Amino acid sequence: MRLDKYLAHAANLSRKDAAGAIRSGQVQVNGRPERTPDAQVDPDSDRVFLHGLPVLYKAFHYYLVHKPRGVVSVTEDRLHGEKTVLDLLPDGVPRRNLFPCGRLDKNTTGLLLLTDDGRTGHALLSPARHVEKEYAFEVKFPLSEEDRAALCAGVDIGEEKPTRPCTVTLNGERSGTIVLNEGKYHQIKRMMEAVHNQIVSLCRIRFGPLCLEPGFEPGMIRPLSDFEVEMLQNCIRSKEEKNDESQNHPGK
Ligand code: URA
Repeated sequence: MRLDKYLAHAANLSRKDAAGAIRSGQVQVNGRPERTPDAQVDPDSDRVFLHGLPVLYKAFHYYLVHKPRGVVSVTEDRLHGEKTVLDLLPDGVPRRNLFPCGRLDKNTTGLLLLTDDGRTGHALLSPARHVEKEYAFEVKFPLSEEDRAALCAGVDIGEEKPTRPCTVTLNGERSGTIVLNEGKYHQIKRMMEAVHNQIVSLCRIRFGPLCLEPGFEPGMIRPLSDFEVEMLQNCIRSKEEKNDESQNHPGK
């Protein structure tokens, strides 16, 4: 890969600024100044420094956000001028190509993944893979055992088919958790309406293998560790294997 391309991607510079930094001697490769923008570097084995600091190349970026209320899950909202989840990124963090993996309603809080890895993002959202999402909810009116059972079995929310079976656990008269393995527009809001109730608050506490940990407060954002990225890839792979298995043994 060309050095200016490496630097532009890894240090969030324009190609022009990257080439300028290289030509002016601010860049070293493996301990030696390199002044040629089109010099070739291997992202896996060469060590690139800018102003004496290492510049690490990652093909893709993954950030976990605790979305606060009032922030919208889109890349930009020119129309309404509202704050988007990308506005939560600290200054200086490369935003190029990052997008939220799925959506949470404006008033829903909780875990949201931002990535520029289109393939993984798509796989995590694909209806064929049914990656689990868990939410803590509070509703306006007490939920009966019949309501809980109906939500678990699947309710009519005006789509072609009822919602898929899911798990609802109550931890109070008006609160509990729900684990979904699909993601229809406003799904939980519409499910609660189907049992004549209303969402008061909703927080996504788990997305596949990623959980909302204590201390990770609304508005916070952090990169995923390599281990967490691996967990996401494993989650996708295991769903694919399950799909293959059920295609080969449809009766199972
Ligand atoms: N279901 C909803 O109704 N809203 C969300 O934000 C997520 C799931």
